[in-house]
Amino acid sequence: MCGIIGYVGGRACRELILSGLERLEYRGYDSAGFALLDEGDGVVETVRAVGNLARLRAAAGEDGGSDARLGLGHTRWATHGRVTTENAHPHSSADGAVMVVMNGIIENYLELRHELQDEGVVFASETDTEVIPHLIAREYDGDLASAVRAVLPRLGGHFAFVAAHVDEPGRLVASRRECPLVLGVGDGERFVASAIPAFLRETRDIVVIEDDEVVAIEADGLTIWDGAEIVTDRAVQRVDWDEDAAEKGGYETFMLKEIHEQPSALWDTIGDRLKPDGSVDLPELGLDDAALARVERIHIVACGTSYHAGLVGRYLIEDWARVPVHCEVASEYRYRTCLAGPGDLVIGITQSGETADTLAAMRVARERGAHVVALTNIMGSQATRDADGVLYTRAGLEIGVAATKTHTAQVMALSLLALKLGRLKWALTAGGALDLADELRRIPDAVEAYLASPAPAQVMEVAASYADRPFFLYLGRHVGVPVSFEGALKLKEISYIPTEAYPAGEMKHGPIALLDEGSPVVVVATDGHVFDKVVSNIQEVRARGARVIAVATEGNSEIERHADDVLWAPRSPALLSSITAVLPLQIFAYGLARARGLNVDQPRNLAKTVTVE
Ligand code: G6P
Repeated sequence: MCGIIGYVGGRACRELILSGLERLEYRGYDSAGFALLDEGDGVVETVRAVGNLARLRAAAGEDGGSDARLGLGHTRWATHGRVTTENAHPHSSADGAVMVVMNGIIENYLELRHELQDEGVVFASETDTEVIPHLIAREYDGDLASAVRAVLPRLGGHFAFVAAHVDEPGRLVASRRECPLVLGVGDGERFVASAIPAFLRETRDIVVIEDDEVVAIEADGLTIWDGAEIVTDRAVQRVDWDEDAAEKGGYETFMLKEIHEQPSALWDTIGDRLKPDGSVDLPELGLDDAALARVERIHIVACGTSYHAGLVGRYLIEDWARVPVHCEVASEYRYRTCLAGPGDLVIGITQSGETADTLAAMRVARERGAHVVALTNIMGSQATRDADGVLYTRAGLEIGVAATKTHTAQVMALSLLALKLGRLKWALTAGGALDLADELRRIPDAVEAYLASPAPAQVMEVAASYADRPFFLYLGRHVGVPVSFEGALKLKEISYIPTEAYPAGEMKHGPIALLDEGSPVVVVATDGHVFDKVVSNIQEVRARGARVIAVATEGNSEIERHADDVLWAPRSPALLSSITAVLPLQIFAYGLARARGLNVDQPRNLAKTVTVE
């Protein structure tokens, strides 16, 4: 979390820094800041403000014609130190000569802070970051790059930072360890940022920085050090990302735009992988068919919404391929005795490819000899570098903090894997696989038709009618369980309403005590072999006076006799309702949060990428 950006080149860069930060805002928006340097004048402007980028812009005021050609900026998701202006970046050395912005955590910062304090350094913030400018100032002898290279071995933890020195106004020095940092190479200018969208409008030519490398950038040059060695063979790569992905394209929010992008995310994720004969081609897995056929056990590790996709994956893989799947939140998996080993497949699901706990869990499994695959949306992300193979979702950039299109694309990618495994394991017949392939191909069209129908507007209306409720219980059975988990997570993330999600059959063992006259209960009651069981659970909650909002398959009129409100979901086979039934729940959460007047793209306290443990 946290987004950083730096610019050095021939242009006045104030607006480049601010607009770059706006494109990184999804990484955190507790506070933000920037500093501009210019030859001769030193630091020409430093602004820091609590709140999101709009607040920073307000604090900065109009551009008074600054022609500073070096700048660095930061948008913060607080880890060490409260959300205050003093703790906002950039942080400086005592004399103000060194300025630093950082993403990540310096784990040994207390030890370093005490060491510096013993030498008389006075700290201006509570952050871990502030040790870096002080350490650089201590080492500085006229060359910022040498000072950073000397400081790097002292830093524990995982981080990416950019530093500037007033005496070198044409140069930025940066480094990273397990946090993202990428260079943008323009004509007579260089960018450095946490993510490519920060400078995508300006250049598509990028250079990747590896762990523990130090890079110095100037308008016309860049030098990378790996320890004492200068790296001479680092290629410039061209990205073909769609610039519009970072724009709202006429929608009122990114989340709404991304909900509507689900058909293309699903089509693209299927792409050319699904063959006319029902076979599936996943060459990037790093396992050939023979090796995949030998996989006896699968572990899935992930966090948040990606974890819910993993839970769905368990149903799909166990049902279609008959391979046992263990699915666990990465923050727990990484600290348990890991029993994965050679012959096992471990799938780390992380849309960003950056989530610290998921990366750590993947590393644990890899050290034990398991084959680790990263299921991610971001090409070249850390997860892809830490894995033996990859399975990409092709959802395009997702900006809204609450994941939508990446989630359904993850479920689609897992469906493809389950189908492939099912054939390799002979758990599916050729005819069975062909039928499933046809069903999968139909899903994006069904999603598109649904989004174009009156159904979403009706869901928004129902949602608004519940906007004042203080609590929602979500229930589901079978694959409806992870669907209900995901629906409840969406609602709590963006509306701040407490939710509980439970397997419906387990509800009698506790959550039913929460229900009262009129308590809203959202029940995933799509068609399938557990439908009747779910209806029984609906009767149980209604007997306690609860109001039932059922998510049901289009055309199932029976549900109307049991529910107070129905949110229709497109028709699909039972297991694939894990994609179709999530749609109304995304829209329900969206409608409710909007009815409460909340900023759904930037829910409080959350960040899109969680690069800290
Ligand atoms: C954060 C985001 C969630 C996301 C989770 C995992 O909590 O707010 O939307 O599901 O991280 O992120 P990942 O990038 O690993 O899928």
